[in-house]
Amino acid sequence: MKIERVILPVLMSAFFGAAAAADAGKDLYTKTCAVCHAAGIAGAPRYGNVGDWQPRLAGGTARLYASALKGTAKGMPAKGGNLTASDGDVKAAVDFMLASVKAASASPAKPVAAAPAPAAAPVAAAPKAAAPVAAAAAPAASIDAAANTSGASAADINSFNRLLKPIGKRNPPPAEDGIHDPVNDGTVALMAPLAAYGPLPKSLAGNRVNWVKAIDEKKINPRWDRQDANAAPVVIDLNIVREVKGSMPDVVYPHKQHTEWLDCSNCHPAIFVPQKGANAISMAAILLGEKCGVCHGKVAFPVSECRLCHSKKKEFRPAQATAPATK
Ligand code: HEC
Ligand code: HEC
Ligand code: HEC
Ligand code: HEC
Repeated sequence: MKIERVILPVLMSAFFGAAAAADAGKDLYTKTCAVCHAAGIAGAPRYGNVGDWQPRLAGGTARLYASALKGTAKGMPAKGGNLTASDGDVKAAVDFMLASVKAASASPAKPVAAAPAPAAAPVAAAPKAAAPVAAAAAPAASIDAAANTSGASAADINSFNRLLKPIGKRNPPPAEDGIHDPVNDGTVALMAPLAAYGPLPKSLAGNRVNWVKAIDEKKINPRWDRQDANAAPVVIDLNIVREVKGSMPDVVYPHKQHTEWLDCSNCHPAIFVPQKGANAISMAAILLGEKCGVCHGKVAFPVSECRLCHSKKKEFRPAQATAPATK
C-alpha cells in the first residue's frame, strides 16, 4: 500500500478517494486540530464529546465546514491556523471529528480518552504523497503531548510554539511588505525599514529593534497627538507582578514601558479590567492572540522572548530548601 501511495498518488486519489479523504482528515486532525479540540482549549468542542458537538450540529454540516474554513469570532482560527491545508482536507478533518461523536453516541460508555493520541509519531512519519505541502510542515504535537515528555520525540520540542505564525522575511521594503500599495509612486518614496532602523538600539527578536531602549535613549520621539506636536503621554510607573505556578519566573507587567507608547484606553477595559489579579491570563490565551498576545507577537516583541515578561525570580520559599536552586 505504501509503495503505490508514493508512486501513484494521483491514481490513488482517483480510485481510493474516499479512503484517502478519511486518512487525510485524521492526519490533519492529529497535526493541526487536536491541539485545541482534544482537550477543549479556549472552548473548542472536544473530540468524541457528544455534548460539546450536539448543539453545533443543528445548522448542518455545511455550516461547520464554513466555520472550519473561515474561522469564527469565538476563537476557531481559519483552517485551525494551518493555511497550507487544502479545503478538502479541512472538511475531511471536520468529518473525522463528527464521526467521533457519532461513534461515541452509539456507545456512550466509551471514554473520551479513546480519542487518538495527538501527533502519534508513526502518523507524522507516514509518507504523505497526496499532500506534499502538509508533509513538509512542522511536525505536529499537541500542548498535551509536548508537556508529557515521556514518549515525546525530539522533533516535538518546539511544538509549544506551533501556534505562532512562521517568521516571514524580516523588514521587507515598503513595496514588498504587503501593507503598502506596490504600484503607488508614494510607496517608493518611503524609507526602507532596514535603513531607517540602522541607528536604533538592537534586540534579538521581532524586527530586531529594542524600541523600549530607543525611547529611553531618546533616539526616537514618537508623537503622542496627531494635531498637537507638544502633547505628552500620561506615563504611570506601576508594576504588576503575576505569580506563575511552576518553575517559570514570575511575570512583571510594567505600566511605564507601555504607557510611553499607549493610551490607557488601548488596554482598559477592553483587554484588561484595571485591577490587579482580576484578569485570568495564561500562555494558551497569549498564544491564541488574546490578553498580552493582542500585541506581543504582532506589534510588540514576540512571545519567544520569555525572559522579558518572566523577569522576576521566584522568592525563596522554605519548603524548597532542599531542592536545588532554580535560576
Ligand atoms: C487554536 C485552537 C483551535 C484549533 C487549532 C482548531 N480549532 Fe476548531 N475551534 C476552536 C474553538 C475555540 C472553537 C469554538 C468556536 C466557536 O464556538 O465559534 C472551535 C470550533 C470548531 C468547529 C465548530 C464551529 C461552529 O461553528 O460550531 C469546527 C467544525 C472546528 N472547530 C473545526 C476545526 C478543524 C477541522 C480544525 C483543524 C483543521 C480546528 N478546528 C482547529 C479552536 C481551534
Ligand atoms: C498594555 C496594556 C495596558 C495599558 C496601556 C495600561 N494598563 Fe493598566 N493594567 C494592565 C494590566 C495587564 C493590569 C493588571 C491586571 C491584572 O493583574 O489582572 C493593569 C492594572 C491596572 C490597575 C490596577 C492596579 C492594582 O493594583 O489593582 C490600574 C489602576 C491601572 N492598570 C491603570 C492604568 C492607567 C491609568 C493606564 C494609562 C495611564 C493604564 N493602566 C494603561 C495593562 C495596561
Ligand atoms: C496594547 C498592546 C500591548 C499589550 C496588550 C501588552 N503589551 Fe507589552 N508592550 C507593548 C509595546 C508596544 C511595548 C514596547 C515595544 C516592545 O518592547 O516591543 C511593550 C513592552 C513590554 C515590556 C517591556 C520590555 C522591555 O524591554 O522593557 C514588557 C515586559 C511587556 N511588554 C510585557 C507585557 C505583558 C506581560 C502583557 C500582558 C499582561 C503585555 N505586555 C501586554 C504592547 C502591549
Ligand atoms: C508577553 C509576555 C509573555 C511572554 C513573552 C511569555 N509569557 Fe509566559 N506568561 C505570561 C503571563 C502574563 C502569564 C500568566 C501569569 C498568571 O498566571 O497570571 C504567563 C504564564 C506562563 C506559564 C504558566 C502556565 C500558564 O499557561 O499560565 C508558563 C509555563 C509560561 N508562561 C511559560 C512561558 C514560556 C516558556 C515563554 C517563552 C516561550 C513565555 N511564557 C513567554 C506572559 C508572557
